[in-house]
Amino acid sequence: MSKACVMDENSEVVFQRKMADGVFLMGIESPGIAATAIPGQFVMIRVRDGLDPLLRRPFSICGIREPGVVLVLYMLVGEGTQILSRILPGERISVLGPLGRGFKPDEKDSRALLVSGGIGIAPLIFLARRLRSGEALFMAGFRSSRQVIQVRSACLVCPEIYIVTEDGSEGERGLVTDILAERLKGAASERGRSSIYACGPVPMLKKVASLSKEFGVPCQVSMEAHMACGLGACQGCAVPGKRALADAYLHVCKDGPVFPAGNIRWESL
Ligand SMILES: Cc1cc2nc3c(=O)[nH]c(=O)nc-3n(C[C@H](O)[C@H](O)[C@H](O)COP(=O)(O)OP(=O)(O)OC[C@H]3O[C@@H](n4cnc5c(N)ncnc54)[C@H](O)[C@@H]3O)c2cc1C
Ligand code: FES
Repeated sequence: MSKACVMDENSEVVFQRKMADGVFLMGIESPGIAATAIPGQFVMIRVRDGLDPLLRRPFSICGIREPGVVLVLYMLVGEGTQILSRILPGERISVLGPLGRGFKPDEKDSRALLVSGGIGIAPLIFLARRLRSGEALFMAGFRSSRQVIQVRSACLVCPEIYIVTEDGSEGERGLVTDILAERLKGAASERGRSSIYACGPVPMLKKVASLSKEFGVPCQVSMEAHMACGLGACQGCAVPGKRALADAYLHVCKDGPVFPAGNIRWESL
């Protein structure tokens, strides 16, 4: 992604919709960002004018709605997301993006396995809509039914969708990685033509990466890290990369957030 494509748009919030307990979908009119964004890229949002909070907050692009509306699915965490949730339609915010490197789906794959944990569903919703391969299986894990995002109203379109909750209060009971393991243990022919795309908490991503290695299935992961600048200038978002790579640390904001799973030094996370 060349820096020339990054825009800072003074954008109107066109809607806010509650999607689950503490989770909202926000539509933001940002035609420049909407025109060029690819799944896996993110935006940095200044949640209000002034110096408090000082830093923009990073959010994956969850989709594009015509004409020129960027969708962001966000979970209430702290001050910044609380402020975001109080913004009314018609108000304006500053949105910087699209940032980072997104997913690179392999056109030769006929089967995409999308695996999300919690709010990690956001960039995969966008990816599912853009995939060209006919077969795609979406496995979305949540703690319990209260966190389950109403996937259809979040614009998730996918031929097969599995909802998994840790306590079994909705969908299948267990961990989303259990479902992935079952699928990978299935037909060997299926493994040969599949790719995995994952986003979620680090323990989940570690397990996904280890399964992809065990079964020899290519895997791309979208990582999170604390970010200050989002542009590669502050070094705040470093994650350990494989030593064989030129740099032992990778920057989530500019080298990622999407990485081949094999490029991350998981044992150091
Ligand atoms: C590339 C990228 C994409 C993201 N996409 C999404 C998304 O689509 N939807 C979404 O809801 N969130 C997403 N996040 C996380 C989101 O940026 C944070 O939840 C948000 O910045 C929290 O801001 P806050 O002011 O509400 O909380 P703060 O007051 O900043 O933090 C509250 C608490 O959460 C912790 N925290 C803050 N940010 C992170 C983080 N990135 N990772 C782990 N802990 C954190 C802090 O240490 C603190 O303990 C993404 C993060 C990155 C780096
Ligand atoms: S957030 Fe500043 S270098 Fe990545």
